[in-house]
Amino acid sequence: MSPIEQALHCLKAGQLVAIPTETVYGLGADADNPDAVARVYTAKNRPTHNPLIIHIACAEAMRNWAIEIPDNAWILAKACWPGPLTLILKRHPRVSNMITGQQETVALRVPNHPLTLSLLEHFGGGIVAPSANPYGYLSPTTAEHVRESLGDKVDYILDGGPCTIGIESTIVYLAGTQPIIVREGAFSASALSDLLKQKVISKTAIRNADLNASLETLQSPGSDHQHYAPRKPLYLYPRNDGDVVPNKEGFVHNNQDARHKALSYGVLSFSLRPEALENIPHVWIQMPNDPVEYARRLYDVLHQLDQSAIEAIFVEAVPQTEAWLAIQDRLQRAARPST
Ligand code: TXA
Ligand code: MG
Repeated sequence: MSPIEQALHCLKAGQLVAIPTETVYGLGADADNPDAVARVYTAKNRPTHNPLIIHIACAEAMRNWAIEIPDNAWILAKACWPGPLTLILKRHPRVSNMITGQQETVALRVPNHPLTLSLLEHFGGGIVAPSANPYGYLSPTTAEHVRESLGDKVDYILDGGPCTIGIESTIVYLAGTQPIIVREGAFSASALSDLLKQKVISKTAIRNADLNASLETLQSPGSDHQHYAPRKPLYLYPRNDGDVVPNKEGFVHNNQDARHKALSYGVLSFSLRPEALENIPHVWIQMPNDPVEYARRLYDVLHQLDQSAIEAIFVEAVPQTEAWLAIQDRLQRAARPST
């Protein structure tokens, strides 16, 4: 059997299949099989009120899972699919409460990966797939990450190589009067606004600007405080800060006391490893200045640090521009508050 045939066989048997996408690996199951869908929640240890994205083969398949599909959905689907965009639409009665977390909406996406697109075409139905990681942990961007974090909870891993985008899809809510980005991803609010010729607002940008607390009531993804986080403590430190001095005592910032007295730590920085670090067993990773490259590497380097012997992770804050918003959002969720 080819890998796709194997994956197909497992899906039809109600088993869990890790699927590659351009964003992160998903933990896939047959959207029409309630036992299989329930198994997804159990394998991830995910609260059942947190709804799942249904992955479909093409835009036309939206009609099988959603009703009253607005023009905006067709415009975005045409321009962005297959690709890192998830649309929230009014649910079709066929969609089970277990998938939607009892909500009246459903999340749909056509992923851009040749193996998974081929799998979806052969399968014919929809595949629910949250990121293939234990709830709250870092998302996987390689088959190896899935193996490490889920082990035998997944029946088959369709290995499609490393994910090219590296962070989860942009999620846009289209079931109301105004399009709202409820999770940042590769498609920014400006990009979607240009496509729709209408202002698309970003919940994250608004939250950052602290402008409108009432939006907080909108039910949305990843609203848990800690999410996408490594097991080791992760701290953010200010950008371009010449006074950041990692030393034997820990990570000293602005000559204040060490914030975390770790004997060894990993650092994600835009700068080169400073000479002061010599002879100390730390890991210094110089990250790319380009947000697309940075996103592609982020979860992989965090997985590496989490598996290594270091005790804490320090990450230099990223620029406060729209191009970095999705990365900023993931880092903020992963971080512990600094003391
Ligand atoms: O890139 C991605 O979107 C990846 C790949 C595998 O496709 N999937 C992914 O799934 O990130 P997951 O389950 O880790 O995150 C999906 C988010 C959840 O936070 C969930 O709350 C939200 O989508 N979501 C799903 N259905 C929703 C709905 N009807 N209304 C609002 N949010 C929804
Ligand atoms: Mg997830």
